[in-house]
Amino acid sequence: MKHRVFVLETGCAFEAGRDETLLEAATRQGVQLPHECTLGGCGACRIRLAEGSVSYDEMPLALSEEEAQAGFALACQARACGDLAISVPTAALPQAQRRSGVVRVLRQFTPDVLNLQLELESEPLEYLPGQYMNVLLPEGGHRSFSMASRPQGNRVDFHVRQVPGGRFTDGALRSLRAGDRLDVEIPLGGFRYHAQDYRPLLMVATGTGLAPLKSMLEALMDDADCPPVSLYWGMRTEADLYLADEIRGWGERLYEFNFVPVLSRADAGWTGRRGHVQDAVEQDLPDLSDLSEHAVYLCGSPAMIADAKRRFLARGASAAHIYADGFS
Ligand code: FES
Repeated sequence: MKHRVFVLETGCAFEAGRDETLLEAATRQGVQLPHECTLGGCGACRIRLAEGSVSYDEMPLALSEEEAQAGFALACQARACGDLAISVPTAALPQAQRRSGVVRVLRQFTPDVLNLQLELESEPLEYLPGQYMNVLLPEGGHRSFSMASRPQGNRVDFHVRQVPGGRFTDGALRSLRAGDRLDVEIPLGGFRYHAQDYRPLLMVATGTGLAPLKSMLEALMDDADCPPVSLYWGMRTEADLYLADEIRGWGERLYEFNFVPVLSRADAGWTGRRGHVQDAVEQDLPDLSDLSEHAVYLCGSPAMIADAKRRFLARGASAAHIYADGFS
C-alpha cells in the first residue's frame, strides 16, 4: 500500500510505500529532498512532519527522541505510516551547479589538515555560509568539503582533513599543485545560519567541523544584528588548533564572542580545557544558564553530535533551534 506525501513548501507530492524510505521514494519520483550521508548520521535530511507519522527500523543516530517527539524526522531513514504533509526547510537554497575550479592555494595548517583554495570559473558563486561542495573524482564518486569562508566572489576556501589511506585526501590531493583544475558540484547541503532565530549562538565543532561555523561567523562579523556567540572547538592536541590565534581575534569584530578550545589529548603544559567538547559545554552551563534561549549549531563527528544533542535537549535546548552537520 502506498501513502501520499505532500511537500508544503513546493506543493508537490509523491507516493511512499512501507518498503522504502521517504528519501528513496522521493528520489524515485524525481522529487528533490536534501540529504548527505543517507545513513541517519548527519541530520542533513531533517524534515518536519506537519501531518502524519513515520517509523524507523532503528532510531537514527542524528535524531534524538526529543526531536522525534517535537515532530522532526530524518527522510533517509523514515518510512511513512500513513499519508504525510512534510515541511522541507531547505526549499529555498541556491541551486547546485557543476563548475570547474583552479587550485590557487595549498597550505598545510597542520600535518593532517590542508587549506585548499579554489578560484571557480565564470560568474561569482552564491552560497549560504554552512553549505558544502563535492569534488568530483576522475574515477567516479566525490568527496565533500564545507566552505570555510564567507562568500567572496569566485574564491572558495576549505579545510581538508587528510585521512591515511583516503582515496582523495591521501591520493589525488597529495599530487595536486597550484594551477591544477578540479571539477566540483557547488553549493550543496542545508546546514546554514538561521538569522530569523535571533538567539544567542552556541556553536560546537570537532576537527574540521570548524569550517562551516567559521564561514557563518565571518558573515556575521561587523553586523550590528550579530547575537552573542560561544564557540567550543574540540581537538586532540594544542598543535592541532590551526587558526586558534585568528579565532581569538574574532572577538574584535563579533558582538560578545567567547572562544573555548577543548583538547582530548592535551600535553601536561596545556592550561586550557580538557576532555570532550560537549562535556566542557555542560560544565559551563551554570554560566550559560540553561539552553532554552539559544540556537545550537553542531558540526563534526556524528558521535559528538548525537551525544551533544541528547545532553543539550535535556538542558532545555529547543529541537527546533538545533542545527547539525555530521561527517566522519
Ligand atoms: Fe539522512 Fe544524513 S542524509 S541523516
